[in-house]
Amino acid sequence: MLLIHNLAEVATPEGTTPRRGGEQGRVRRFRDAEVVCAAGRIAFVGTPEERRRRFGEMPDAERLDGRGGTLIPGFVDPHTHLPWAGTREEEFAARLAGRTYQEIAAAGGGILATVASTRRASEEELATCVLRRMDQMLAWGTTTAEAKSGYGLNLGDELKQLRAIRRAAASHPVHLVPTLLAAHEVPPEHRGDRGRYVDLICDEIVPAAAEGGLARFCDVFCEQGVFSAAESRRVLEAGARHGLAPRLHADEFADSGGAALAAALGALSADHLMAVSDAGIEALAGSGVTAVLLPGTSFFLMKKLYAPARRLVAAGVPVALATDCNPGSSHTESMPMIVVLAVLQLGLTIEESLTAATLNAACSLGLGAEIGSVETGKQADLVLLDAPNLLHLAYHYGINPVAAVVKGGRLVVPRPV
Ligand code: NIG
Ligand code: FE
Repeated sequence: MLLIHNLAEVATPEGTTPRRGGEQGRVRRFRDAEVVCAAGRIAFVGTPEERRRRFGEMPDAERLDGRGGTLIPGFVDPHTHLPWAGTREEEFAARLAGRTYQEIAAAGGGILATVASTRRASEEELATCVLRRMDQMLAWGTTTAEAKSGYGLNLGDELKQLRAIRRAAASHPVHLVPTLLAAHEVPPEHRGDRGRYVDLICDEIVPAAAEGGLARFCDVFCEQGVFSAAESRRVLEAGARHGLAPRLHADEFADSGGAALAAALGALSADHLMAVSDAGIEALAGSGVTAVLLPGTSFFLMKKLYAPARRLVAAGVPVALATDCNPGSSHTESMPMIVVLAVLQLGLTIEESLTAATLNAACSLGLGAEIGSVETGKQADLVLLDAPNLLHLAYHYGINPVAAVVKGGRLVVPRPV
């Protein structure tokens, strides 16, 4: 058993399904609460008096002194490209000098540059890269993350990336949920016959990833100049036939019909949405799809354009937040940084952002019943903030606010000695 005491507050969304509209910002805030974890789950949230009545003095329990901080659910990061090798700082410098992300990609850089370095890396080397990034994630409070392939772009190298995710996850507290993103880009060897590459994904890569249990979701970069809505539909339907639930990169740079496709397929999420149209928002509104917003990408690409978060909330679309952690368009593992951007650039309230970065993110991974809130019965994935209340999560920016992390009822940050 673990007793977390001396907290200024516990702040959490509630429930097991995505919060939308006015519910997105409904966060329960308990003052002076205590939390008890038992057998990896949350067993109690309430006042010290009530805790004593129910559990007594708990002399044998492990204790975590909250030191007047704020306890929130572990962050869930539902969109990352973790298993890559190599770096692209030259490209970053070129962007600082005025070249655009799309110009760099058209000249053979961008995703294809990382494809080349990732193909050269062994599974073990990739797993080491993933582990380094997972250490950062955990230090900044992420306890569950999605991780995509998409820098292999052939059967062997896509599976190698998925195996690297599995290998890394086996020895680290952060829980990883793997996604097949073979349709991230058309590889150089298929540039003349893109239809053949889509066939290869549908007929070989999807079945192999599903058969090995290596992926849980299937994703597509549905974007002008990458995969059309028709191609994306083919890939996602092939995924669904093999038990891989659809999620997609939708309307990042141009309205490509991605949001409408997500709605039509009943995808778990439509991600990016910087350029989503009114019709796209309307389609999402009636659909149950969660909008996963990635403000780190707008920020890191120095775009004026951010996703229309307020309009999505107003339309009743549940909004989640993610880092998009990747070497080109958003090189960060930090969910607190993403929350700062959500508040200052997307116009979400701090409460809406908390829900987006925890419960709604968990729901977009199909894990809303297990994680994403500080409620009795859920897995005990918790973050202690060195902050007197929730507002400080965005108010005090640029620092790491995480004082401690509990994963499955165990203290994992700071590392127990
Ligand atoms: O989500 N949009 C496509 N893929 C990534 C970028 C990947 C890269 O630049 O390596 C993204 O932004
Ligand atoms: Fe992405």
